[in-house]
Amino acid sequence: MALPSVAEMDIRSNLHPYTNHIVHQQTGPKTYVHGEGIYIWDEHGNKFIEGLAGLWCTSLGFSEPRLVAAAKAQLETLPYNHSFAGRTAPVVSELAERLISIAPDSMSKAYFVSSGSEAVDSAIKVAWYYNNALDRPHKKKIISRHRGYHGVTVACTSLTAIPVIQEAFDAPLERFKQTGTPHFYRFGEDSETEEQFATRRAEELEQLILEEDPDTIAAMIAEPLMGAGGVIPPPKTYFEKIQKVLRKYDILLIADEVINGFGRTGNPWGCDTYGIEAPDMVTCAKQLSSAYIPIGAKMISEEIFTVIAEASNRHGVFGTGYTYGGHPVAAAVALETLKIYEERDTMGHVRQVMEPFQKRLKQLDSHPLVGEARGAGLIGAVELVADKQSKESYDPSLKVALQVYQKCLEHGLILRALPSGDTVGICPPLIITEAQVHDLFDALGESLNDVYRDLQNMS
Ligand SMILES: Cc1ncc(COP(=O)(O)O)c(C=O)c1O
Repeated sequence: MALPSVAEMDIRSNLHPYTNHIVHQQTGPKTYVHGEGIYIWDEHGNKFIEGLAGLWCTSLGFSEPRLVAAAKAQLETLPYNHSFAGRTAPVVSELAERLISIAPDSMSKAYFVSSGSEAVDSAIKVAWYYNNALDRPHKKKIISRHRGYHGVTVACTSLTAIPVIQEAFDAPLERFKQTGTPHFYRFGEDSETEEQFATRRAEELEQLILEEDPDTIAAMIAEPLMGAGGVIPPPKTYFEKIQKVLRKYDILLIADEVINGFGRTGNPWGCDTYGIEAPDMVTCAKQLSSAYIPIGAKMISEEIFTVIAEASNRHGVFGTGYTYGGHPVAAAVALETLKIYEERDTMGHVRQVMEPFQKRLKQLDSHPLVGEARGAGLIGAVELVADKQSKESYDPSLKVALQVYQKCLEHGLILRALPSGDTVGICPPLIITEAQVHDLFDALGESLNDVYRDLQNMS
C-alpha cells in the first residue's frame, strides 16, 4: 500500500498557524526539504533565497555545522536538565554569563524560555510580581503600541495590537492599553518634522497615562524597530522622549529585542541603534540560537532582581518556571551561536553588507508601486500604494502585498506579506554576501515590475 503524500497527511492532520484553512484545504502545504547557506529548496527541487531568514531568525543560514555539533555533543552528555530550585547545567550558566556580558548595560540576570512569546509573557509576570513586592497592587497595566508585535500567548495577544491577531480572540484584555504607532510616513502630518511627530507621540503617551492614572501603569513594551507590524524604524528622538515620560511616572520599559537583537539593525541591540537607555527588561529569542533550536530569554535589571529576590524569600520561591526553560541542548546551541558571532565578527560583516542592502532598498522608493522603502541594518520593507502622492492604499481585496510575495516565489525569493497594510518584509540571514544582496533586490525589483504591470492591465 502506498504511503500517503505529505500534502495528504498535512491537509488531514496539521492545523497551521497564520493560515487560511479553507484555502489550505484546497492548495495544500508548501513543502521545503533542504537548506544551505541563505538558500532553501522545495520538494520539487526549486531553489529560493530565504529573504526573511525563516521568521526573521536564521541568522547563520541553513547549514552551520558547528550548531549541529554543539547540539549533538550536549545530547550525548546531558540531554535534559531543568532550572527549578536552583538546578543548572554548566552550559546554561555559561550562556547566562555570556548573554549578560553582551546585553544592554542595565541587564543583570537572564531567565531562559523556549520562545519570544514566553520571554514577553514572563516579562509581564515580572512587572506584576515586582509591583506586588513593592506593595503597589494597582500598578499593573501594560502599554504597547498599535502594530507592535509581541507574540501570541493570551497576555502577548493583548500586546500585539494588530487587528487580525486580536479581534477574533477577544483581545486585548482589560489590563492592556495601546498608544500610537511611531510611523512618520503614515501618521506624520504635512506640517510636522520627524522630531515634532516624536514629541506628539510622547505627549499622547503621557495623555494615556494620565487618563488611566499613573498609579495603575506598570510597564510599556516596545520593539526598538517594529518588525512584523511593518518594519517601522522610530522617528528621530522618539525613545528619548518616550523614556522621559516613563521615568516621570515610574513606569518600566521592556525593550522587545526578539527581532532586533544580535545585530539585525546594524548594532548589537536595537536599543543601541535607537538610543534606548538602560531598559528595565529586555526580551530576546530567534537569532539567539540562529533558530536552530527553540530558545528565548528575558533579562532584568539589578534593581528589579533585588526586589523580586526579596519577595521570593518572603513567598518561599519565585513561583513560576517552564519545564524547558534552561534546556541544556538549546543552551548549547545558543552558546555556540554567540561564540560564532564573536569569532567571525558577524557584527562587522553586517555593517559592511548593510550599506549595499540599504542602498538597494532606498532605490525602490522611486518604483511606481512603492510608497515607502524603509529599514535599518539588514532589515527592510516596502509599503505598496496605489497613489504615491496621496499615499492611498490599494483596495485590500486585491491583496497587493500577497501578489508581490507570490511573484517573488516565481523569481526564486521568499519574502513575507506582513499582517498589517500592504507591506512586504525583507530580512535575510545575517551571513548574506554583497552579491547575494544584489540577487535578492534584482528578484524583488522584477516582482514589483510584474505586479505593477498586472495592476495596470487590470485598470
Ligand atoms: C518582537 C517580537 N516579540 C515576540 C515575538 C514572539 O516570538 P515567538 O513567535 O517565538 O513566540 C515575536 C515573533 O515574531 C517578535 O517579533
